[in-house]
Amino acid sequence: MAIIRCLNTFAVLTCVLLIIVYEDNTICVAFSPSKERQHSSNISYRIIKAQKYSHNVSTVPRDQCGIAVERRIDCARDRSLSRAECESRGCCYLPLPQSGLRGPPWCFYTVFYPGYKMGPMLPTERGHRAILTRSAPSYLPRDIHTLQLDVMAETQDRLHLTLKDPTSPRYEVPFVKSQSKGHKSMENPLYDVDFQPEPFGFSVRRKSNGRVLLNTTIGPLLFADQYLQLSTSLASSTVSGLGEHYTPITLDLDWSSVSLWNRDMAPHRSANLYGSHPFFLVQEGDGQAHGVFLLNSNAMEVFMQPAPALTWVTIGGILDFFIFLGPSPQSVIQQYQEVIGYPMMPPYWSLGFHLCRWGYTSTNITRTVVQLMRQAKIPLDVQWNDLDYADQRRVFTFDPQRFGDLPQMVEDFHQLGMKYVLILDPGISSASPPGSYKPFDDGLKKGVFINNSTGQILIGKVWPGPTAFPDFTNPTTQDWWMDWIKDFYNKVPVDGLWIDMNEPSNFVQGSVDGCPDSELEKPPYTPGVIGGQLNSGTLCVSAQQYLSNHYNLHNLYGLTEAIATHRALLKVKKTRPFVLSRSSFPGLGRFSAHWTGDVRSDWEQLRFSIPAVLLFGLYGIPLVGADVCGFGGDTNEELCVRWTQLGAFYPFMRNHNDRPNAPQEPYVFSQRAQDAMRMVINLRYSLLPFLYTLFHHAHTSASTVARPLFLQFPTDPDCRSIDRQFLWGSSLLISPVLEQGAVEVMAYLPPGTWYSLHNGQTYYSKGQYIVFPASLDTIIVHVRERSIIPQQAPALTTAISRKNPFTLTVGLSVGNLAKGELFWDDGESLDTFERGDYSYLLFFAEESYVVSKPIKLNGSLDGLVLGEVRVFGVQTPPTAVWANGQKVPDFSYRLDTKVLTVAGLELPMTAKITIQWS
Ligand code: NOJ
Repeated sequence: MAIIRCLNTFAVLTCVLLIIVYEDNTICVAFSPSKERQHSSNISYRIIKAQKYSHNVSTVPRDQCGIAVERRIDCARDRSLSRAECESRGCCYLPLPQSGLRGPPWCFYTVFYPGYKMGPMLPTERGHRAILTRSAPSYLPRDIHTLQLDVMAETQDRLHLTLKDPTSPRYEVPFVKSQSKGHKSMENPLYDVDFQPEPFGFSVRRKSNGRVLLNTTIGPLLFADQYLQLSTSLASSTVSGLGEHYTPITLDLDWSSVSLWNRDMAPHRSANLYGSHPFFLVQEGDGQAHGVFLLNSNAMEVFMQPAPALTWVTIGGILDFFIFLGPSPQSVIQQYQEVIGYPMMPPYWSLGFHLCRWGYTSTNITRTVVQLMRQAKIPLDVQWNDLDYADQRRVFTFDPQRFGDLPQMVEDFHQLGMKYVLILDPGISSASPPGSYKPFDDGLKKGVFINNSTGQILIGKVWPGPTAFPDFTNPTTQDWWMDWIKDFYNKVPVDGLWIDMNEPSNFVQGSVDGCPDSELEKPPYTPGVIGGQLNSGTLCVSAQQYLSNHYNLHNLYGLTEAIATHRALLKVKKTRPFVLSRSSFPGLGRFSAHWTGDVRSDWEQLRFSIPAVLLFGLYGIPLVGADVCGFGGDTNEELCVRWTQLGAFYPFMRNHNDRPNAPQEPYVFSQRAQDAMRMVINLRYSLLPFLYTLFHHAHTSASTVARPLFLQFPTDPDCRSIDRQFLWGSSLLISPVLEQGAVEVMAYLPPGTWYSLHNGQTYYSKGQYIVFPASLDTIIVHVRERSIIPQQAPALTTAISRKNPFTLTVGLSVGNLAKGELFWDDGESLDTFERGDYSYLLFFAEESYVVSKPIKLNGSLDGLVLGEVRVFGVQTPPTAVWANGQKVPDFSYRLDTKVLTVAGLELPMTAKITIQWS
């Protein structure tokens, strides 16, 4: 066995797999590659041998403990262990002076901690397979002694690796995997995989530069019935994902952990929140990136340490890993969404402004809200009602007194060109006298509810009091849900449904009768969740669902409800469904939008809403926003103006407020604040054609809508962790004010030329921070050179704005180039792209002209005209302008900003248009 000295970093371990540190010197152990080298297409699996270490509980060899402190993998996650207990697990016990709760473990795995031994790799239809066997029992109850490893090089940039029990099938996640869009060529896979047979581990290398992206030999594989663990090195410390948590865009790897267990919990630090997304993206430091997705829906905790390294611990299911090689961060996201599905195409109206409050207690009040918004001349597309509408808070009913004319109100809103959305909680009241609440009676008859472990309906408590919970994994439940949505829709023609409380939330722990004392309710290891127990704030996890127990299916509750609700709306409305779900899991974006839950009305939550929104974009749920002005607690005028400015650039913009708080509709504030809010909502409306086109790209190619800077500028190290600014697509940079009292913003402009969206003023950036004045009526937005943004004059609703004349805002590059595009359809029909029922326009600028050219025309452009062109960065003052060869009298040029404006046009966009100047 050769011992080679090498640098003290994981990143250089391209030839080797393991690392041992003696005091301060890092020593790499090089493994002589065995003869076994196998090829599947062009991917090579290398089998490498590790040093043999026989497991002897009483004597842990000292040299097996010589691991750099930051690389110690915790051997005592379940409880703290004494030296004797630690060593009886065969682990090393080396105490450290410790400050605070976090830090390196004292009890940690030895270098070659025994685990599984891999047998020969044999080819299968989909890749290669090997059987793994445990050499000795672990310290965990119910080890799975034999595992089946499947390695599938699925595409050039996607590796799929599963570990499961070949003898007795275990739970596997349903619903998530979409039909992958096309199978990319396997000609030149971007990765190589190395296997260490004993103790089993693998590493994945980026072929182009040999970088080790992950190496699981740094810790043991544990696979017991209720405890599965795998550690891996990370290629850098810049990691994003593993939501839903209250975090910046990149995670803290300083001995921290995040738990994934859907929970009704107002966003705050160190808490598992409403959704679970076991996916992360690593920026490798040179502009390249990769991603890892563990398709597992059990309660999970992911531990991070500064090595950098990470340990997955999940308490059920199988290990089902997808590794995405990128190499650009944007392509990682696309590859991830090829697995979980591309997002739905939202209806156009859902990109307008939405207004809601818990506490609009009657139709009269709701009507007044709409009236006051219209009087204030502030755009409003969608009015909402929270639970107030429901008779005794029971869904599928409405209060006959306070909401007696609800159907008429909805009709009246429709007459105004507006839409209407209602809340629909999953909890079905179970306490009404028989015959008085049909959804429950009918559900009972059809057996649609979740049962407790002894087969009776599980009763919990939510807003209406005692409630039963529909089991959306049951096809009968999906039909029952559709029937009741249809029944209600026939009375109240809602335009969308808001599915709240679907973690599912429960005000009693587990059920009104408690939960049994079982290994499911109290597993050998419980991830660090709020409340300490899996059934805190939700159902007993031993509850029975159609497809499995709630222990396995809990994190899918919201997703399955979203699927059922989407399906029901599709059936009853036959237009694009709009569903807003609080709970989420990979794949939700195919069916639903999302909001970030009960955010507090304060400046910190305003600021953290940006990474929250950006991360959901990475998770394939681009239609997302936080409650504008905050949900909990009183807002104030300044905060609400700033939040409205930021919210105007959330892909989903809804102002929503809790009952006891000060009102926060735009019209309740001073004239100055209203003006600022009106201005920015109008600005949003003017940009909707551009936003809609971004959604088209998200839907058809998984490109991100609200985009973190690192995705667009991956080689710029300054962009790595920026999350106070973001982009819309590739060409609008948004830099909001996030501090109380601030009247300027220090914003980073990536290298290149940027123009103020408001007045075209030019900024040449070397990649630097610039201070911009931002009085209360201003949000800083820049247009990137080389881009053309299609805009439309705003109106009080999108029904009207969609018919207004277009403006093209052109940001010229130094060489006078720019381009842009527009996807346009009727905004609500199903599958317009798939059916070819849409129009597509290209815009480009060169030298001294701008062209608008239809590439595909399908009806929906009728009546649309180009009204104005604004060209930023015109260096030489033009003396004449022509539109389609005709001289245009109405143009202006500003010497100071170098902006050419050509107004008063009325050119149908169904034909090619050329605007030229000289
Ligand atoms: C909790 C939701 O997060 C909130 O938005 C809603 O207003 C209340 N439930 C009442 O339905």
